[in-house]
Parts: sequence; C-alpha cells; structure tokens
Amino acid sequence: MSNADAWGLPGVLSFFDAARSTVDQVYPSEWFFLRDRLRRGMNVLDVGCAQGGFAAILGEHLDHFHYTGIDINAEMIAKARQRHPGHEFHVVAEDTEWQCLGGRQFDLVMVLGILHLHEGWRDTIARAWGHTGSCLMLDLREHQGQTLEDKTMSSFSMCFGADDDLYEQTRLPYVIVNSAEALAEVRRNTPGAGRVSHYGYLHPVSAAARTPVAEVMTNVWCVER
Ligand SMILES: C[S@@+](CC[C@H](N)C(=O)[O-])C[C@H]1O[C@@H](n2cnc3c(N)ncnc32)[C@H](O)[C@@H]1O
Repeated sequence: MSNADAWGLPGVLSFFDAARSTVDQVYPSEWFFLRDRLRRGMNVLDVGCAQGGFAAILGEHLDHFHYTGIDINAEMIAKARQRHPGHEFHVVAEDTEWQCLGGRQFDLVMVLGILHLHEGWRDTIARAWGHTGSCLMLDLREHQGQTLEDKTMSSFSMCFGADDDLYEQTRLPYVIVNSAEALAEVRRNTPGAGRVSHYGYLHPVSAAARTPVAEVMTNVWCVER
C-alpha cells in the first residue's frame, strides 16, 4: 500500500476528525516557535495538513490570515475543504514538485508530524524551503546513534486506535535521524538560511513504532531567511 493510501484508511481518517485542531493539541516544542510568529494577514503553507487542523489553531489567535494546506491523501483534503471552506487545499504527489503552488512564497511554512514518517523527508524539506519567504518550521525524531530510515529496521504502524490486522500491518518508515546528521541535513536543504534554531525534548518512541530505539529527541526546527 502506498503512503498516501495508508493515510486514507478509514480509522486513520476518523482519528484526524478530532486530533490536532485546537491550541491545546499543539505540542510545547511547536508552540515555542509558533507563538511569536503569528501576525495578522500572514500567509501560511501547511505541508501534510491532514484535515487542516492548523487553520483552526491559527484562527484561535488571528482574525485574518491566508492558510494553504497540501497533503498526499485526497480524502484528508476533501475533509479539510469541508471543514475549512474559507481556506485553500490541494492534493499533491509525494515525490514531485508542488505545481499547484506555482512560485508562491509563504511567510510561514509548517512541516509537522510527517518527516519521520516518509522516505523522501530530505526532499520534502528542500521543497518546503523553496516556498519559504520568511520562516520554515519542521520536526524530526533524533537520537545519538546511526540514522534509521529503513522500514524493515524501524517502522510505524497505522493503528491510530484501530486494532485490526490491516492497520497493524500497514507500516510507514519510522525515521530516527542521528542528531549531527539532522543539523547537517537541515542546513543542506535550506541553502541561504540566516538563522537555524531548534527546541525539543527526549520522549519515549511512539507506541505505534517498531524500532530498536527506546527514546528519541522530538525536535522542532525553525529556519529563518
Ligand atoms: C500525522 S499527520 C500530520 C498532520 C499535521 N501536520 C499535524 O501535525 O497534526 C500526517 C499527514 O501528512 C500527510 N502526509 C504524509 N506524508 C506526506 C508528504 N510527503 N507530503 C505531504 N503530506 C504528507 C498524510 O496524508 C497525513 O494527512
């Protein structure tokens, strides 16, 4: 099953009906950077937007902003359009340029909750930076050992509350990046960045992960032009 189809399993879709759409569902490491970057009238790109929950989160703090969400799963985007009719949503392919955006630049680009769950994470950072006018926020799972990105070594099941076999057997890579390599990859894929900051904490790996690592640094990176 493709990554896009895995995200469209009914139990996964319904999980995101309720998840991550209010400020109290934003992680402290995300809010640490986000809270100071909210400006009336700003334009935001959310890569891997699911059902557009961040449109509601931003709306708790801003009365006027432009939000564009892109996602590889068409059903997530259909639900996002229904839930947030005032905002813009597009389905994108995982491994190609985001042509729907043309050459547009955004004040804030968010890539949250996806880079540790797909093979092409380095290219996704580079593509997101290409649309960053001011600030790119992204998160990675890190540790001090070797980078793990082979699905046979480190994987994530799509359980999300459903416990039947199909969900357990549908697996994405669970990418855990060596911390020094994380810095190198962030720098390499954001050429010309003026300032790179990160903030995170040690956390047990996700209960849905099958990986030899017990604890990861969940790091949010903020890259500014
Ligand atoms: C865990 S959810 C994250 C949702 C949201 N960004 C958040 O932080 O709550 C993952 C979403 O990202 C989408 N996704 C996964 N890989 C992607 C990729 N390479 N490009 C765009 N969207 C992706 C999935 O379809 C799914 O809707």
